[in-house]
Formats: sequence, C-alpha cells, structure tokens
Amino acid sequence: MSYIPGEYWAERGKEYKENFRYSDKFELQEQMLIECLKKYSFSSILEVGCGFGRITKLLLSNFHQITDYFAFDLSPHQIENAKINITGVPKSESVQFAVSDIQSFQSPKKYDLVLASEVLLHILPSEIEQIIGKLVSFSDKYLCNIDWYEEKTPRNAAPHNFIHQYEKIYKSLPTIESVHRIPIVKKKGFLSKIDTKQSIFFSKLRT
Ligand SMILES: C[S@@+](CC[C@H](N)C(=O)[O-])C[C@H]1O[C@@H](n2cnc3c(N)ncnc32)[C@H](O)[C@@H]1O
Repeated sequence: MSYIPGEYWAERGKEYKENFRYSDKFELQEQMLIECLKKYSFSSILEVGCGFGRITKLLLSNFHQITDYFAFDLSPHQIENAKINITGVPKSESVQFAVSDIQSFQSPKKYDLVLASEVLLHILPSEIEQIIGKLVSFSDKYLCNIDWYEEKTPRNAAPHNFIHQYEKIYKSLPTIESVHRIPIVKKKGFLSKIDTKQSIFFSKLRT
C-alpha cells in the first residue's frame, strides 16, 4: 500500500476521535509527558498535529501558567473535535486553532515550547530533517516530540509509521544545546511491564 501522507490523514481524521481507544499506554504516556515538562519553565506553546486536542487539554489542565497556545493539524475534522474537546477547560480561551500541514505552516513568532505528539513518526524519511529544522526555528527554548522508537524497525511496520533518528537529527542542528530520550516504559508487576515502544525526545535550544 502506498502512503500519501496528506490524503491518508485527511481521510483518517474524519473518524479518528470515534475510533480512538484510551488505554494504559496513553495514561503512562501522558503521565510521563507531564513529569518531563514540569521541570521546565514555559508559557507559550506551539502544538503540531494536535489531532482532537488530547494533549492540548492535558497541558491546559496541568500547566496553568500557559498564556498563549497555538495548535494546528492538517485535518479540519480533528480541529473541529479539538475545539469541542477543550471547551470548559481553564485557559481554553488562550488557544488558537488552525488547519494546516507542517510543510506549509509559517509562524510569525516563536514559542517557548514546540510540541509534536505522535506526528513526526508519520513524516516521510525524505522530509524529516527539513521538518525538524523548521520546528526548531519556531522555538526559542524547547522542543519536545513523542514518537515510536525502537533500535530496529520491525518487518511488519505499517506504511504510515517510520522510526526516525531524532537524537542524531537534533544534535546535527547548531541551535540545539542538548537532547534527551526518555523511553515510555514502566514495570507493572514482578514480570510484566507497560511498554509503549515510544520515547519522549526533549531538546533544549542554546540561549
Ligand atoms: C496519531 S495522530 C496524533 C494526534 C495528537 N497529537 C495526539 O497525540 O493525540 C497524528 C496527527 O498528526 C496529524 N498530521 C499528520 N501529518 C501531519 C502534517 N504533515 N501536518 C500536520 N498534521 C499532521 C494527523 O492529521 C493526526 O491528527
């Protein structure tokens, strides 16, 4: 099956929220993201590929210092659902939503934190370095992405999912001071664990 990203996500966006099933993996992902972000100081956020606003709502609910939040997604359906999803959440009036893909998105300003949750894994390998460079240019402090990461790509990987070498790409950029990878894994009992096969990649820009 060939993967045409814009077409695929515009179509999938139509029923994404209805098909979404919250699980202990998402719970762990969200907990670890909050733990990670609590260590840093930020008041403005640019969220890329916000989907139906799952992370938008999470951050608004946990970081009351946010004064400026811009969130976009290529799917108009996802954006409509995101607006509904954050209704009634404190500071929801500080959020501006837009329909755009990353490729054509331009920002007249920079944000303390640029965030992309489960978006960059869907970017084609031929585009990923350029897209990450672009996202870094929109940040003046931090960049955080959550994505699938394993040492080796399994043979049965879906055509819309890619493992990119995020740390290597960030480190190659002169404006990046440091990057940390935080695997989203937790022991559950004596023998079992929750393993999302995802990592949080948190980068700091040079000041
Ligand atoms: C797996 S969903 C993740 C949604 C949300 N960030 C979350 O974590 O719940 C991927 C989202 O990225 C969006 N997306 C994929 N490629 C994109 C692109 N090139 N530009 C903007 N959004 C994109 C899709 O429309 C979809 O809403």
